[in-house]
Amino acid sequence: MIYLDNAATANPKAPGVGEAMAQSLGTYNGNPGHGGHRLAVRTTLAVYAARAALAHLLGVADPSRLCFTSGATAALNQAIAGSLPGPGHVICSTWEHNAVLRPLWDWQRRTGGRVTVLPAAGEAPLSPDDVLAAIRPDTILIVLTAASNVTGAICPVVEVGEIARTRGIRFLVDGAQTAGHIPLHLDTLPIDLWACPGHKGLLGPQGVGLLYVRRGTELQPLLLGGAGFDSERQEPPEETPERFEAGTLNTPGILGLGAAAEHLLTTGIEATRAREVELQAAIQEGLRRIRGVRLYTASDPGAGVGVVSFTIDGWNAAAAAESLDRDFDICARAGLHCAPLAHRALGTLPDGTVRFSAGPATTDAEIAAAVEAVSHLAAHPDTAGLRQATSRA
Ligand SMILES: Cc1ncc(COP(=O)(O)O)c(C=O)c1O
Repeated sequence: MIYLDNAATANPKAPGVGEAMAQSLGTYNGNPGHGGHRLAVRTTLAVYAARAALAHLLGVADPSRLCFTSGATAALNQAIAGSLPGPGHVICSTWEHNAVLRPLWDWQRRTGGRVTVLPAAGEAPLSPDDVLAAIRPDTILIVLTAASNVTGAICPVVEVGEIARTRGIRFLVDGAQTAGHIPLHLDTLPIDLWACPGHKGLLGPQGVGLLYVRRGTELQPLLLGGAGFDSERQEPPEETPERFEAGTLNTPGILGLGAAAEHLLTTGIEATRAREVELQAAIQEGLRRIRGVRLYTASDPGAGVGVVSFTIDGWNAAAAAESLDRDFDICARAGLHCAPLAHRALGTLPDGTVRFSAGPATTDAEIAAAVEAVSHLAAHPDTAGLRQATSRA
């Protein structure tokens, strides 16, 4: 099988992830932070070690600023809802995932707040000047994805963060498509809140993610419950990470993610990035040569993460992905990729695109085979499938 859906979830995971998860069900099967006996303490220390490895990887000096969540969606919901107690104005971009858009639209409906979605022209990432122009006296929050999960284009996070910082506006970054892809030093970036999943570029398991909360960022916790200490207090703890980690943690997921972080610390994200740019260039070059294939991606491979969206003339995106799977043993994602506004900007509604996303384990031969498969599809339009889709529409 050729797996080209790493933007949805990395496959395979980093070496050692499965073993660490299995160990957590035996050697580390106490309740971390909730108990004083040997097994609980040993598990607490193992969770701390995983947090410290991730902090090291992400350039965070104080590991307690990294809070474990169930994924990027949970971290983004926490960051958005916890930053917006009442109405106001929020800026985001066309490239946002529904994990950002839906919480913002929900907030807008409930409070009468306003969301400005900065439009994009084609594949171009948003411009910092547009952000500057959109700021209003009541702007409380700017949310930006670090890279589009549709085109792979990297967004100008540092420039926008500097604007936000100068204006005293909170800045939240969705790092879902850049964590583990691009070397990061979160403490030195002009970012207040940063969210990511553990299961994509960080090569960890599903069901665990991270929220980075810069010291001094006031954030209301969404989930309230036991912290394992100060139980007589009616309010949740003030300190991170416990403020945002109510209840029992996902220890198997966290220890698996810790093992993935150790792996990335050994191999180096710089090396992963160099290989990703190579693969991205090979996919783009191959697909651009095929008549009838349209690419929606950052044209310079160095300006994007390893994501290429495309359409094939004569093929509905879902049918093309189905054929790639069935006839060529290639796993690719098709559709809107939970980013409807991106497809509106690209003109690819309602069917969306086919998306190839390589990972560190992808080989040159696999890319060549995938390009060959797309070339075959382009030469054999799916007329029956298109007729069916048209009659359904
Ligand atoms: C840009 C972006 N943000 C957020 C998410 C949500 O991540 P998760 O489903 O792991 O919570 C994704 C997942 O595809 C994504 O690509």
